[in-house]
Amino acid sequence: MTASIMHETIRHADSFLGLSELGKKTTPYVPTYRFPGSYINANHEYYSNCPSGYKDIKVCINIDIDGYLQHGDALKLYELAYFAGGDILELGTYCGLSTSIIAQAIHDSKQQIRFETVDIDKEANALARKNVQSKPGRAPVEFNILDATEYMDKAIAKGKSYSFIFIDHWHGYAATYEAAMRAKKLLKNGGFCLFHDYNDPANADPEHVYGVYKGANDAMLCDPNFDFYGLFGCTALFRKSL
Ligand SMILES: C[S@@+](CC[C@H](N)C(=O)[O-])C[C@H]1O[C@@H](n2cnc3c(N)ncnc32)[C@H](O)[C@@H]1O
Repeated sequence: MTASIMHETIRHADSFLGLSELGKKTTPYVPTYRFPGSYINANHEYYSNCPSGYKDIKVCINIDIDGYLQHGDALKLYELAYFAGGDILELGTYCGLSTSIIAQAIHDSKQQIRFETVDIDKEANALARKNVQSKPGRAPVEFNILDATEYMDKAIAKGKSYSFIFIDHWHGYAATYEAAMRAKKLLKNGGFCLFHDYNDPANADPEHVYGVYKGANDAMLCDPNFDFYGLFGCTALFRKSL
């Protein structure tokens, strides 16, 4: 299958959850791009049944790189990267779990695109570089050490644009809102923005630091140029109008 000619998308607006429903309903992976079969290829399918139980958390995949991704998150990341068709930005590299999935999908799709990832943790970043580069079949990754907001402001100043932005850095309200507002400027028309830990009940706890649900919604839901595109695993997907 050729990634570049597959552009038809499917919106799953009915998967939206209210604040009090977060974490109470399972939101499994379903495709956003129309492709034949349930999975794009064997590497994509792998994330549907790969080992899980990372740090004894039943829903988290356990594939030799530290990090907290559910099967649905991993499947959606692979799919969005595979069909991106333009540059990709990731906020929150940590040890490279999501980074390696995105880099694998870019490699498999044979796209000539740039993939930038940003984090402030130098130690974890050194590990991420090793983890991503230790396996063949990964596209090149540009690792950056900088605050996410600062990185995005520089990218805006340079006139950069992306087809897919994955937001998984600090999960507080201000950091999420700042990233979402900047993502709106940085996304190409038709581009996708995926928020990790959106469908997590911690977002409904006023004592908890999580503000992903509110931060993402405040930036995206009231914007006529953005559509809610669905919940998958614990992620939420929004799309900029074509
Ligand atoms: C949840 S982890 C990322 C997980 C990763 N995406 C994965 O799949 O394993 C969050 C990361 O965001 C980084 N981070 C926290 N605040 C940040 C900020 N303001 N700018 C950039 N990175 C930040 C942390 O250092 C941490 O490595």
